[in-house]
Amino acid sequence: MIPFLTRRARPARSAAPPVATVATVLPSRITPTYAGPIIECKEVTRTYRLHGNNVRALQGVTLDVQAGQMVALRGRSGSGKTTLLNIMGGLDRPTSGQVTIEGQQIGHFSDQEMTSLRRRKMAFVFQAYALLPVLSAMENVELAMRIAKMPRKNREKRAHELLELVGLGPRAKHRPFELSGGQQQRVAIARALANDPRIILADEPTGELDSVTGLQVLKLFRKIVIDHGVTVVIATHDPTINEIAHVTYQIQDGKLEQM
Ligand SMILES: Nc1ncnc2c1ncn2[C@@H]1O[C@H](COP(=O)(O)OP(=O)(O)OP(=O)(O)O)[C@@H](O)[C@H]1O
Ligand SMILES: [Mg+2]
Repeated sequence: MIPFLTRRARPARSAAPPVATVATVLPSRITPTYAGPIIECKEVTRTYRLHGNNVRALQGVTLDVQAGQMVALRGRSGSGKTTLLNIMGGLDRPTSGQVTIEGQQIGHFSDQEMTSLRRRKMAFVFQAYALLPVLSAMENVELAMRIAKMPRKNREKRAHELLELVGLGPRAKHRPFELSGGQQQRVAIARALANDPRIILADEPTGELDSVTGLQVLKLFRKIVIDHGVTVVIATHDPTINEIAHVTYQIQDGKLEQM
């Protein structure tokens, strides 16, 4: 049986109530989980060398992300949000410091090991949706499962369920240009969920949306966190995140402070 979207134990510190109830048809699966923080960054620095100058994008960032929480990174343009998300996702490596994912230090991972870890545990959501324009919503969601070699029947069923989960069942056959920005981002979120990630890293996912649609997308992330125990780390300029995320950090010049 292909594992479908997991219902995981809620974290003890998750105080706020769900923003919406979900009557999901997705079966549940009990997964043994690492008891410590799902992501740990210890004294992480990242210095870029550019035209003979050092750009200190991160300057000693230490934070723990608890499993099943929504954690926000806020900060001005150039403050280091994307750099930190990329390092958490193993898309970039720190200049110094350590990153640990579910107890595994990833600093010494080869590129292949990192790719494998990402495939098993992580998914990314970007500001510009990154959907394939020639594919329908359904096919965009299915694609990740096709790459993971899930049998066709299972992936069609799952893509359908995920589109229902993000409220887009009736739009399954639409291609991206036949969808609004908010709907496209919801397809991207359904796609991110396709392979049942433990962690979603979202970089400015509401950056191209108006405030009302952006709020709907933030609440959808929150619903996924609360109902399914997925951990979401989200970089955003959006001030409404303070009321939605469990924990919000401010980044300034590559340094972190909790709000
Ligand atoms: N590849 C690179 N080479 C050199 N400098 C870089 C590189 N990538 C990022 N930087 C610099 O690192 C700093 C942090 O950039 P980063 O993209 O993390 O900021 P950000 O907070 O995501 O900004 P935004 O809100 O505009 O997306 C910036 O000063 C940026 O110019
Ligand atoms: Mg950025």
